[in-house]
Amino acid sequence: MNHLCRKAAAEIKAAGRIAALTGAGISVESGIPPFRGKGGLWETLDPMTYAHIDAFMKDPEKVWRVLLKGLKEVLDRAVPNAAHRGLAAIEQLGKKVCVITQNVDGLHQAAGSSDVIEFHGTFASNQCLACSRRYPSGQLELDVLPPRCSCGGILRPECVFFGEMISPDVLDRSRRCALQCDLMLVIGTSATVQPAAAMPFIAKNAGATIIEINPDRTPLTGDTSDYFIQGPAAEIFRTIMAELGRQ
Ligand code: OAD
Repeated sequence: MNHLCRKAAAEIKAAGRIAALTGAGISVESGIPPFRGKGGLWETLDPMTYAHIDAFMKDPEKVWRVLLKGLKEVLDRAVPNAAHRGLAAIEQLGKKVCVITQNVDGLHQAAGSSDVIEFHGTFASNQCLACSRRYPSGQLELDVLPPRCSCGGILRPECVFFGEMISPDVLDRSRRCALQCDLMLVIGTSATVQPAAAMPFIAKNAGATIIEINPDRTPLTGDTSDYFIQGPAAEIFRTIMAELGRQ
């Protein structure tokens, strides 16, 4: 693992433009559970029953009570870990780093990353289904569910539910970021949810090197990824950043 971290540090040092595609795994060491795999949210909850837009529109009280309220409480407590901080610190080396994250936790921005594309939206903001007024998550009262706007309308988090489209602007910026990078770091994603999972293919076809960081193999491993650094993201990043300091 150490020699691969050394190699990754050298690739980071040599790259002009770096893209990172991140998923739930990068925030596991910040205390946020992933969706799939051991301890994942979808182990106990069926995503089509609780994370599909049709399920939310049919019974917003149930979706807020079973999924969203608890998730919001976990996110409110979470702070960035060494992987989020490492990505932000790479910018301080004079690199352009574009982070495409599937996460809604805001931890890349909290760590100091300046260019973050929130592919699946955010939990930091909520919108009224009736009048479109926006409320920051910190202002939400969750004693009575679902939370409501002053107009009486129901509030939804500004994340992307299953069954919803990714905004064209987000898709466009992500594609551009993948096309322009010399190096893409794919960190903590199962790379199974489209269209986010297409970004490493776009980068690879445009000539970028793809480095994957994950404790488990994914459909990209040994195929689209040039190499795979096996392990938890924060631990791997501590080693990469130490190597970068030495090189
Ligand atoms: P997943 O839950 O599908 O995958 C998490 C990945 O993180 C897995 O590949 C794990 O092996 C890996 N992992 C676990 N612990 C890790 C650690 N400490 N360090 C690094 N990696 C670790 O999460 P995503 O790929 O982000 O979409 O899921 C994609 C989308 O599916 C989510 O954005 C969400 C979900 O349903 C929507 O809600 C629309």
